[in-house]
Amino acid sequence: ALVSMRELLDHAAANGYGIPAFNVNNLEQVQAVMEAAKETGAPVILQASAGARKYAGEGFIKHLIQAAIESYPNIPLVMHQDHGQNPDVCQGAIDLGFSSVMMDGSLEADGKTIASYEYNVEVTKKVAQLAHRVGVTVEGELGCLGSLETMKGDKEDGHGTDATMTREQLLTDPEQAADFVKRTQIDALAIAIGTSHGPFKFTRKPTGDILAIDRIKEIHQRIPSTHLVMHGSSSVPQDLLAIIRQYGGQIKETYGVPVEEIQEAIKHGVRKINIDTDIRLAMTGAVRKFMFENPEKFDAREWLKPAREAAKLVCKQRYIEFGCEGQG
Ligand code: G3H
Ligand code: 13P
Ligand code: ZN
Repeated sequence: ALVSMRELLDHAAANGYGIPAFNVNNLEQVQAVMEAAKETGAPVILQASAGARKYAGEGFIKHLIQAAIESYPNIPLVMHQDHGQNPDVCQGAIDLGFSSVMMDGSLEADGKTIASYEYNVEVTKKVAQLAHRVGVTVEGELGCLGSLETMKGDKEDGHGTDATMTREQLLTDPEQAADFVKRTQIDALAIAIGTSHGPFKFTRKPTGDILAIDRIKEIHQRIPSTHLVMHGSSSVPQDLLAIIRQYGGQIKETYGVPVEEIQEAIKHGVRKINIDTDIRLAMTGAVRKFMFENPEKFDAREWLKPAREAAKLVCKQRYIEFGCEGQG
């Protein structure tokens, strides 16, 4: 059944677990997440980016998620708009039936320019007002995702800024976070702690200087009743990279957010953990392997099946690792 994000995150907070929010763009990804949730008894957050809505078309995204709700009536499910670039995008998602929206006011509406704090407060507050009137949950973002190794924003996957930033811009300030939540009245806050979108997050296994888990603790202490959200939280498993490389893919040495760091973050208020890249890597590796091993096959269902299975495995792992088993 469709539920509000607030309801799921409140339950996660009360019971000390975190919920992976998986990006979906097509049928196989939706099915992978739902099967993983069914097998682990987990609650579901399906999120669609503006890019997903463009790729599949709004009607397909809406009805794919509706189909998931109908096919798995006993699983609580949130339909979430990821990275709304302006209040109109969020309003559009609400009109489409989303039960949760993210207003990402950390960047201006062009998705590139670093926004002023006042701009962020203004647009996020506006969305909170219009969404709360109809029972829709709101996630805001304070601080800019980006690398503490290069001091650059995350432009790798084609969105975000590539501007050089200061440590202050790349790390959410606890005092400002308190002011932001108070003024905007959001339900959940996405924070910047050195992660970025896409597979190229870190050039080595991250340590505290480049992945600021301690910052989460400081923010959580300051605003204990605000649900925290981690973006750019794919773990970029080395075994998935190895499969891609083994079957002809080219992907340089890179590291993601270790699962044990996310588990530590969950102890300090992180309730929603955004994951897209790990699913991309899993599906790509599976398709490359299948194509290599079966050069004579051409039925799309035959190669989509292992891709769907590989995506399901990653989702199941994260549900278990983040403590979702039996919570749905
Ligand atoms: O926000 C980033 C997510 O990975 C979605 O990516 O905009 O390419 O769909 P996308
Ligand atoms: P990854 O690229 O690390 O999977 O992050 C996804 C995300 O934050 C979507 O909003
Ligand atoms: Zn994100």
